[in-house]
Amino acid sequence: MMKPTTESTQRWWESGVIYQIYPLTFADGNQDGVGDLRGIIERLDYLNDGQPDSETSLGIDAIWLSPINKSPMIDNGYDITDYQDICPTFGTLADFDELLAKAHQRGIKIILDLVVNHTSNQHPWFLESAQSPDNPKANWYLWQTPFEGQALPNNWQSYFGGTGWTYGAERDQFYYHTFNENQPDLNWQNPEVRTAIYNIVRFWLDRGVDGFRLDASSAYSKDPFFRENPLKYGATDKNAYNNYHHLYEKNLPDNHQIIREIRAILDEYEGDRVLIGETFIDSRLYDSVIFYGINNDELHLPITFEFPFSPWYPGYLQREIENKETTTPPGAWPSYFLDNHDIPRHLSRWIECSLCVDSVAIAKAAATLLLTVRGTPFLYYGQELGMVDHTDIPEDQLQDRAVVKSETGETPPPRDGARTPMQWDDSPHAGFSFGEAVKPWLPVHPNYTEMNVQQALQDPDSIWNFYRQLLQVRKQNGALRYGDWRSLIYYPHEHLAYVRETATEIVLVAINFFYEQPFKLDAAIEREGWTVLLSTYYEASKVIDLAENLQPFEVSILQKCR
Ligand code: NOJ
Repeated sequence: MMKPTTESTQRWWESGVIYQIYPLTFADGNQDGVGDLRGIIERLDYLNDGQPDSETSLGIDAIWLSPINKSPMIDNGYDITDYQDICPTFGTLADFDELLAKAHQRGIKIILDLVVNHTSNQHPWFLESAQSPDNPKANWYLWQTPFEGQALPNNWQSYFGGTGWTYGAERDQFYYHTFNENQPDLNWQNPEVRTAIYNIVRFWLDRGVDGFRLDASSAYSKDPFFRENPLKYGATDKNAYNNYHHLYEKNLPDNHQIIREIRAILDEYEGDRVLIGETFIDSRLYDSVIFYGINNDELHLPITFEFPFSPWYPGYLQREIENKETTTPPGAWPSYFLDNHDIPRHLSRWIECSLCVDSVAIAKAAATLLLTVRGTPFLYYGQELGMVDHTDIPEDQLQDRAVVKSETGETPPPRDGARTPMQWDDSPHAGFSFGEAVKPWLPVHPNYTEMNVQQALQDPDSIWNFYRQLLQVRKQNGALRYGDWRSLIYYPHEHLAYVRETATEIVLVAINFFYEQPFKLDAAIEREGWTVLLSTYYEASKVIDLAENLQPFEVSILQKCR
């Protein structure tokens, strides 16, 4: 068993904050309307300028870049044609090397998205594989012939809607795709496929990347007999994928062996390279927990969806944290997130069902939750501003071709709303692109004139400034980085109150979700002498006694030495 995390054993990906950039939409460096690596390089100081008390920089520790490899962009880069090159949309390998070097100079790590459950159907491997049943790459993908009298090889569905099988005329066979028909799944049972992918892993590690986020990392392995998935009793979801138990095309035992093999490669390298994995696709929490590996030899950080799937309600959120606390194995480390590129942003998800309708208050409360629970927080670009989904993008401007293509109405809704350009300032394209002639790849959210980085920096009460201070407080405070988590309330209704504690200090986090309520703290908590680390109500550094009542929407992070 590994030692518990302490200050001296904590690794950068446990103490740090990881910021996800969707490269298409962060910053357009070459003014063609689409984000790129040059744009990111130019904005690095915004993310971390290396000054611990900076007032203009967020202070994140690592960037996770959604895919930047060569791609026809049917799924915005999650469909790759060359794993060892950069998509010209984003720049060149030289640009990438420059980004890596400049990020490292500022202490920012770079994590790449590794999309190896599938390739693009334009990848040379697939083009070759599709030609005949006996070419050298014939067995690199999952080709099957239906049994006599059957239209399809089996009942496996596509997560994006419809059957998962598409016909390839040259082979007179069907290939399986977990996602879009343009994203054929690789056959991980073929040792040649594994070798090819592991060479790609080494290619980027040799170049100096600090880790990977494995896309769809629970879907690599498939049943060698292609058995049918059982139908869920009474299931009637419009997306047929959700009506099946995914016994035979996901979460199979061999999947763990594959991840162990990838992890073993990372472990050969110096510098604590991190392996993160998207373990969700209809998987429950315990499915994710086993992705740490029996000997903590698989993922360092399985990404799980407890906050995104929870309503904005203290009891539910606390239950999710408690679940995670009790199921995370010894020596393993949790992670949390609110937003990513596949789901509506949290302020759009939560604003309607929340007890309070003040989105700034919700944003600060949600930020506090994310950055003070025990685990690595992931931020999604623009979350720090309070960006919300653009819900009125004209249909002819939608870009999420992976899910909008189906005519059946079975597909999940397009994800463009949460992918609109980063809002830097109030110039015509929000500072994402410049110039009249340029048209950003997705329309900018109309609220950009009031909600943008330039304005947020000037407003001491902005959501952005709150995030910046939270990140600083976290960096300066051991209990928040590695202390144990313990709730002070059994099942909260109006507020959360929990502590993070080490042998030498205790930090109390109180978040009021509602109007004024009695602050019934556990009797074991002393009321006197708390130092304010950050609060929406008290001045930082002030020493206070705990008040009887929390103020409306109050968020307070208080500290005391032991
Ligand atoms: C999960 C990614 O997050 C999503 O954006 C993508 O469409 C699918 N995997 C397929 O790669």
